[in-house]
Amino acid sequence: MTQPILLVKSGGEAGAAEWRQHFASAGAGLDVRWWDDPSVDPAAVHYVLVWDPEPGRLARYPNLRVIFGSGAGVDLITCDPDLPRHVPLVRMATPGAAQRMAEFVTWAALSLLKGARRIALQQAARHWENFDPEHTAAERTVGIMGLGHMGEAAARMLRGVGFPVIGWSRTPKDIPGVRSFAGAAERDAFLAQSDILVCLLPATPETRGLIARPLLERLPDGAGLINVGRGSHQRMEDVLAALDSGKLSGAVLDVFEQEPLPADHPAWAHPKLIVTPHVASLPPRRERAAHVAAQIAAHERGETLANTYDHDRGY
Ligand code: NDP
Ligand code: OXD
Repeated sequence: MTQPILLVKSGGEAGAAEWRQHFASAGAGLDVRWWDDPSVDPAAVHYVLVWDPEPGRLARYPNLRVIFGSGAGVDLITCDPDLPRHVPLVRMATPGAAQRMAEFVTWAALSLLKGARRIALQQAARHWENFDPEHTAAERTVGIMGLGHMGEAAARMLRGVGFPVIGWSRTPKDIPGVRSFAGAAERDAFLAQSDILVCLLPATPETRGLIARPLLERLPDGAGLINVGRGSHQRMEDVLAALDSGKLSGAVLDVFEQEPLPADHPAWAHPKLIVTPHVASLPPRRERAAHVAAQIAAHERGETLANTYDHDRGY
């Protein structure tokens, strides 16, 4: 019996053999092919695993059953005007991805608390200068915008290391020890209490350009900023201006409008800014292949797919 074809476009052609091996280890029973394999019959493609397919490409597979995003954010897939909307789109929102994100956000919050950027600069300059970070975790409230799969995991871990945590989402949440704010009406009250603001929102028309001067002005003076959502959420010039003026005391940015961040971008050298290259949560291929294989098996048994993109909500 011929096996269903899974086309993969994630991590470049060099990674195709590794994907094949991980799907085989997961016992997936799939014929795993690279995205541009010329021998593939489009009618035989039942599944795809993609990060940024070329617009129009997914519409070419008449028998596509499920689109798997290789990341939790699927904005580089949904921006395709010809995306086949009747085919379920599954986000890579695995427990491992949430754990990794929670670890990254906790690391970033502790880095802001402890002056990690200053320490790194002093080390690079071989400069020994003692300084005393002013606050403990218990004295800095972390406000998380976006309390979904990733945001909730981050909230729980931050609570575990002693930060008071509040969150803002579209609908109210009930997470133990985390005060929930919801909707536009409660946003300013949430911001006013966020000593460290974390962005874990999806990229939607409503969230585009949200981290700009009007929002930053609502934060307590000397707040910290962590953006692990999308580069489209932040207006870079406003963030840099807030760092320069002291409105923000520091920031950790993992996502940028243009990735890779251009070598001449001022963000690289800013003394109050830690730049990370979109690494907040990147589960290994082995883990992602096992997850996709399990989801395909569940789908073929007629079970409901988890973490599907909702076209009406836009995330
Ligand atoms: P979810 O869809 O599970 O959660 C999204 C959250 O955002 C929900 O709480 C939702 O509210 C809230 N939200 C959406 N729109 C609004 C709005 N207009 N106002 C207020 N709240 C809103 O997503 P995930 O947690 O899985 O992922 C979040 C994002 O993190 C991804 O879309 C991606 O951009 C980013 N990401 C970045 C990674 C990195 O490595 N840097 C890795 C993985 C993800 P409600 O709960 O009420 O629906
Ligand atoms: C993302 C991811 O959505 O890396 O950014 O999963």
